[in-house]
Amino acid sequence: MRTQVVIIGSGPAGLLLGQLLHIYGVDNIIVERKDRDYILGRIRAGVLEQGTVKLLDEVGASARLHREGLIHDGIELVFDGVRHRIDMKEATGGKTVTVYGQTEVTHDLMDARAAAGLTTIYDADQVTPRDFDGDKPRVTYVKDGTTHEIACDFIAGCDGFHGISRQSVPADAIRQFERVYPFGWLGVLSETPPVSPELIYTKHDRGFALCSMRSQTRSRYYLQCRLDDHVDNWSDEKFWDELKRRLDPEAAGHLVTGPSIEKSIAPLRSFVAEPMKFGRLFLAGDAAHIVPPTGAKGLNLAASDVHYLSVALREFYAEKSAAGIDAYSTKALARVWKAERFSWWMTSMLHHFADTDEFSARIQIAELTYLVGSKAATAALSENYVGLPY
Ligand code: APR
Ligand code: PHB
Repeated sequence: MRTQVVIIGSGPAGLLLGQLLHIYGVDNIIVERKDRDYILGRIRAGVLEQGTVKLLDEVGASARLHREGLIHDGIELVFDGVRHRIDMKEATGGKTVTVYGQTEVTHDLMDARAAAGLTTIYDADQVTPRDFDGDKPRVTYVKDGTTHEIACDFIAGCDGFHGISRQSVPADAIRQFERVYPFGWLGVLSETPPVSPELIYTKHDRGFALCSMRSQTRSRYYLQCRLDDHVDNWSDEKFWDELKRRLDPEAAGHLVTGPSIEKSIAPLRSFVAEPMKFGRLFLAGDAAHIVPPTGAKGLNLAASDVHYLSVALREFYAEKSAAGIDAYSTKALARVWKAERFSWWMTSMLHHFADTDEFSARIQIAELTYLVGSKAATAALSENYVGLPY
């Protein structure tokens, strides 16, 4: 088999890259180790920047998003028991975000890929990128007991944080930067109306809490929890009681509770691998970087990476120029680090740190008070939250 670009991984990064390359006339095959249903069963974040929505428009995968997605003009911040609204639309001269689940984005991209008749190989074992330091890279994998090989011009490693692509790079060719936070997020999905029309981010001495949503009838809530905590320790009743304790009285009074339909704990991590290009292997999305979810940037960063990469590859084929692919890593990392900073800052400001002294606790509150009281600070938060320009 032969194609121009082999994409490893069929998450949002791989699928969006595949569609962008397709409309730019670049052939691609996706090789994925799991199956479609497994991928669609993963529940992830749900806030899309306008740039991400535009890319989904560009590849014709946004019809349902425009029907079902919720446009949000602002967010709310709770601290010291009081709720404050941040009007992001006003602070950014008209920019908004769209609340639409990542699972739905993945679904829509898979449908678009199927409609375009593009090849995805699911259930591929031992996927291995090879010879990417020369000009004849290839990817091998085992399917149903037989080894297969795809020859290609480029390999795109879109295989997430635990993927094989980054691990295939010689240790002396890559630098990795990491911060692991001393807490996790306990998430609950429930078939209940959202407590408030906008997302509520809460700073409380008992820990952070977030009220989000998937639709007018489905809510997503998170509580900061211990890293060694377990979902079995959290009955639905205990979860709702704890959430109410952390919210402001009005929100706590309005919270509609119900049975959870999903409950899970995720650790929080900041991570960046540099560079994002190794010969003819590129990394994109979670394969190259992880952000803690507090800034809602994970999926949006995957989208900006594949935007830069697809444009560079189009230029390579259309203009026979390697300038774009040579600049990919530098360009992508510049945006990645800004989102890393924002996500780290949001996380630091809103969580309870067990080793916090009184001084640091006061600084956190001073930061939040400044944020909601200063136009400049509100604008700085807002322009990052809605997404920095590409
Ligand atoms: N071979 C083939 N496929 C693999 C391999 C492998 N060795 N390892 C992982 N994969 C697949 C996974 O099964 C998954 O479907 O790569 C895909 C990676 O998808 P994601 O983890 O969703 O990563 P990405 O597409 O970069 O999406 C970024 O997802 O995790 C969130 O917060 C993140 O929102 C962000 C978005
Ligand atoms: C979510 O809806 O899952 C969500 C929203 C905002 C975040 C993180 C997660 O910052």
